[in-house]
Amino acid sequence: MDLFSMSLKSVEDHWNRLKNASSTSFLKRNMTELIFKELKDKRTFFNGTLLDCIKGGCVNLDSGCGIYASDPEAYDVFSGIFFPVIKDYHKVGTVSHPNPDFGDIDNLGFGDLDPSGRYISSTRVRVGRSQAGFPFHPTAKLHDRVELESRAMEALQAFSGELEGTYYPLSEMSSTKQKELTEEHYLFLQENRFLGDAHVYDEWPVGRGIFYNPDKTFLVWVNEEDHFRFISMQQGSDLEAVYKRLVLALRSVEEKSSVKFAHHPQLGYLTYCPSNLGTTLRASVHINIPCLASQPYFHEFLEKHHLQVRGVNGVHTEMVGDVYDISNKRRLGMTEIQIVREMIVGVQAVLAEEQRLDGSLTKSDGVQFEGNIAA
Ligand code: ARG
Repeated sequence: MDLFSMSLKSVEDHWNRLKNASSTSFLKRNMTELIFKELKDKRTFFNGTLLDCIKGGCVNLDSGCGIYASDPEAYDVFSGIFFPVIKDYHKVGTVSHPNPDFGDIDNLGFGDLDPSGRYISSTRVRVGRSQAGFPFHPTAKLHDRVELESRAMEALQAFSGELEGTYYPLSEMSSTKQKELTEEHYLFLQENRFLGDAHVYDEWPVGRGIFYNPDKTFLVWVNEEDHFRFISMQQGSDLEAVYKRLVLALRSVEEKSSVKFAHHPQLGYLTYCPSNLGTTLRASVHINIPCLASQPYFHEFLEKHHLQVRGVNGVHTEMVGDVYDISNKRRLGMTEIQIVREMIVGVQAVLAEEQRLDGSLTKSDGVQFEGNIAA
C-alpha cells in the first residue's frame, strides 16, 4: 500500500479517492453517490462494513472487480452495490442461479480433450467453498480462523482412496517446503496486493494450510482467499478424470463431515469474491497455441466461446512462452455440468482453430506439412 492509501481512514476517504480517480473496476463502474450514502452506515451481523468490502478496490485502482464480501451476509446487506456489480461482472440480466447439478459422473463422456498430447500439458478444475455460519477475512476473529481450520481438518481426514492425503498447516511448514511447493505452483503465496489490501492476509498464517494426496492430483487450500479451494489437476488432458475426482471430493465433505457449505438462493455457493459466485467453478487447461495466440482476433475468439485467458501462474500473471491458461468465463446462472460442457466445446474450437492455422502457416512457409489436422 502506498503512503497516500495509508492516509485514507474513513469509508468516505476511500470512496472519495476512488470517485475522483480513473479506474475501470466493476466497483467504480457501479458505485454511485446515492448507493454510497444508502450503504455507508449499514452493518452485517458480523459487524462487516462497506469499507471492509470496498477497501481493496479503493486502494488498488487497477482492480478488476474491486469489491469483496466482508462476510456471507454482506451480499444482502450491501446488495445495493453487490447486485449491480454481479450483474455487470457475470453479464446477467437478473441475478439468479440454478440448483447444483454436477451431471451423472459415471456417464460424462467428456473424452480426452487432446489425445495427441501435443497442445494441452495439464488440466485443472477448482471450486471455492465457504463454511456456513462463519465470517470471511475482514470480519474473522482469531477463534473463527482456528475453528474453521479444525472443521476443515475433520473433512479432510474423512477422504478415502485416491483423495486421501496429508494436511500441512502453513504455520508449521518449513520455508524449504514452502519454497518447493510454491515453485511447483501448488501453494498459494502471501504476495498479491489485491488480496492483501482486502484483508486476506490478516493474522497470517493462522488457520491457513494446504492438503494434498501423494500424487498431487487433489489439493485443498484452507483459509486462503476462501475457506476452501478444492483443486483437482493432472498432467495431460483427461478432463473427465479431473472433474470426477473433484465431484467425489465435494460429496465426501458433504456426506462424511459436519462441514456445511454456505449457499444462497440467488447467488449459489458463496465465495469471498463476487467474481466466483454461483458454481465457483473454473475448469482450465494449459495449452500451447502459438498460431492462434498471435492472431489479432485471439481474444475475440475466446470471448465468443465464453473462455478466459490467464498467465500460467494464476490470476494477474504473465504468459510463459506460448502456453496459456484457458478456462470457462461463466460461473453464475448455469449448472456445473453446463459450464464444463461449454468449456469443452470452447477448447475444442480453440484446438480446431490452432490446427487450421498451423496447417496453413506450415504449408505457406514451405515447411513440410506434418498432418496436424488431427481429429
Ligand atoms: N481483487 C482482484 C481484482 O479486483 C481479483 C478479482 C478476482 N480474483 C480473485 N482472486 N478473487 O482485480
